Amino acid sequence: MDNLDQLVDDARAAFATAGDAAALEQAKARFLGKSGLVTERLKALGRLAPDEKRERGAAVNRARAAIEAALEARREALRAAALADQLAAERLDVTLPGRGGVPGGLHPVSRTLERIERLFHAIGFTVADGPEIETDWHNFTALNLPPNHPARSMQDTFFLEGRNDVLLRTHTSPVQIRSMLAHAERHRGADVMPDLRIIVPGRVYRVDSDATHSPMFHQVEGLWVGERVSFADLKGVVADFLRKFFETEALQVRFRPSFFPFTEPSAEIDVAFMGGAPEGRWLEVAGCGMVHPNVLKSGGIDPERYTGFAFGFGLDRLAMLRYGVNDLRLFFEGDLRFLAQFR
Ligand code: DAH
Repeated sequence: MDNLDQLVDDARAAFATAGDAAALEQAKARFLGKSGLVTERLKALGRLAPDEKRERGAAVNRARAAIEAALEARREALRAAALADQLAAERLDVTLPGRGGVPGGLHPVSRTLERIERLFHAIGFTVADGPEIETDWHNFTALNLPPNHPARSMQDTFFLEGRNDVLLRTHTSPVQIRSMLAHAERHRGADVMPDLRIIVPGRVYRVDSDATHSPMFHQVEGLWVGERVSFADLKGVVADFLRKFFETEALQVRFRPSFFPFTEPSAEIDVAFMGGAPEGRWLEVAGCGMVHPNVLKSGGIDPERYTGFAFGFGLDRLAMLRYGVNDLRLFFEGDLRFLAQFR
């Protein structure tokens, strides 16, 4: 008779050295499989005499139970080890400091725009807007720029493919027309039309591209129409706005005679910083003037009774001057190293 205790010990040792589930199944087959060592002994029982068989059978069964228990214990141990490995591999160190969210911020042009809106709100202007795809009539004709007028070539225009009556607006001035028409309509039949005071920030488009020109850029139009609105009002509003915008009284503002078809008289607005950079140099920031009678008429407003002034600022230009940026394209490239400086 062989030693069943030894067999159980051998099985335990074999299971213990099985390092993973596959090796354990192989070890199991060696003992409990169809022709395994335990099975062999069970088969051999048939050749024994009945009382021998009973005794031997009980002993083999005990050994088999012990081996099965050892197998199950080892399976459990391997499962626990695998789980422990997985937990170690996927471990999170909850004590690490967070990476932190990167704080967002407004684009410098948006910040500039919000500032301009605040300053004009304070003196009774509201914000108006209009479509970026504009009709030729609103963009040119209604602004006293009839078809074939040579001044149309001051603005290199993107027309829509296959159309010559629809274009990407070249300036925010067409919103003057839209706003006047709506205002005149709203107050039709009234004894006195209340003043119309708007600023119009927005994107405009021209066929142009270099360090100081982008095919898409931003303007802020201004318009004040009412009884007895004068050039003196224009100068006061603009000069006051610019000093507040740049936060300095040491700002010189100059109105230089110029030409725009939609204003008469017309001027360009230059600023110079005294004692600051860039010092002593006149920088053009806007066009302006008294709204031309033909433009008031296009807007449905009686030029015999009402007058108005208008101006058009380069919004990006104002942002460049305020923040000391010398290349316009930086505003539109979306480089976070640039933009993050304005957070
Ligand atoms: N629309 C002009 C441009 O884009 C700027 C301008 C000049 C606007 C004079 C005005 C104005 O309202 O009165 O060049």
